[in-house]
Amino acid sequence: MRLGRDYVLKIGILGCGAIGGFVARNLAKGRVKGAELAGVMDKEGEKAESLARECKAKAFADVETMATACDVVVEAASGQAVRDHAKAILEHARLVMMSSGALMDGKLMAVLRKTAEKHGTKLIIPSGALAGIDGLCAARGARKARLTTIKSPASLGITTKTKRIVFKGPASRAARIFPKNINIAASASLAVGMDIEVVIMADPKAKRNTHVLEVEGLFGKISVRAENEPLRDNPKSSELAAMACLAAIRRISEAVEIGN
Ligand SMILES: NC(=O)c1ccc[n+]([C@@H]2O[C@H](COP(=O)([O-])OP(=O)(O)OC[C@H]3O[C@@H](n4cnc5c(N)ncnc54)[C@H](O)[C@@H]3O)[C@@H](O)[C@H]2O)c1
Repeated sequence: MRLGRDYVLKIGILGCGAIGGFVARNLAKGRVKGAELAGVMDKEGEKAESLARECKAKAFADVETMATACDVVVEAASGQAVRDHAKAILEHARLVMMSSGALMDGKLMAVLRKTAEKHGTKLIIPSGALAGIDGLCAARGARKARLTTIKSPASLGITTKTKRIVFKGPASRAARIFPKNINIAASASLAVGMDIEVVIMADPKAKRNTHVLEVEGLFGKISVRAENEPLRDNPKSSELAAMACLAAIRRISEAVEIGN
């Protein structure tokens, strides 16, 4: 359907934590042209009530009601929320998904793709905390792709006094061992169309979450380094990830789209 300029996209948010709160507050302040916050939902009802009150939006009682009432649902909850709700959301609305690590399950990915095709919706995976996803999408068929992530031991949920590699292997395995920290490895793998190599390093001196992406193919080489400030409300997530989520909504709602 072609929407006129005066149509405002209704956005629903699943997960009222650090990223969901950031996106909801920015939408409520009118910072995304062509989009408005319709409502929010969280498995902890009080969190949803409180954010809805603050943003003068609705607290939805269940995900399906939210998806039916919205054009776009933003998932900023968890891998479990993706497994439980993504299909039902895609039967009604476009889905902007932050917990992309869940998509390393190829069967789930296939089901969601089919659902979106059948219902004319779309699964949108923001670049999140990683820069360079645009290049990865263009570089499909690359020979080699490696993502090195350096975080403080606390944000990896481990303890160590020295800087050390805690994981080296394919993204699919990293997703099982560090499910909360591996969304960007999953997003990068999906973008380039291969199970990329992942190196995770714990550094007690790390103040920022750093991601270094290196890709090689017939096109040449790409090397990108993002040094992200932790997100204030959840140091395990990055400021850039929340901003990327908002940018993904802008790409849908605004008249001009930049990047591939
Ligand atoms: N793609 C990326 O680059 C990237 C970057 C950072 C975080 N993330 C992911 O985004 C998600 C949100 O991150 P955050 O920092 O806002 O986390 P958070 O812990 O601050 O907030 C998550 C919220 O979701 C709610 N929730 C969890 N499971 C739910 C479910 N099944 N149904 C309804 N609500 C549920 C929680 O109660 C909480 O309020 C996480 O899965 C995180 O791993 C992705």
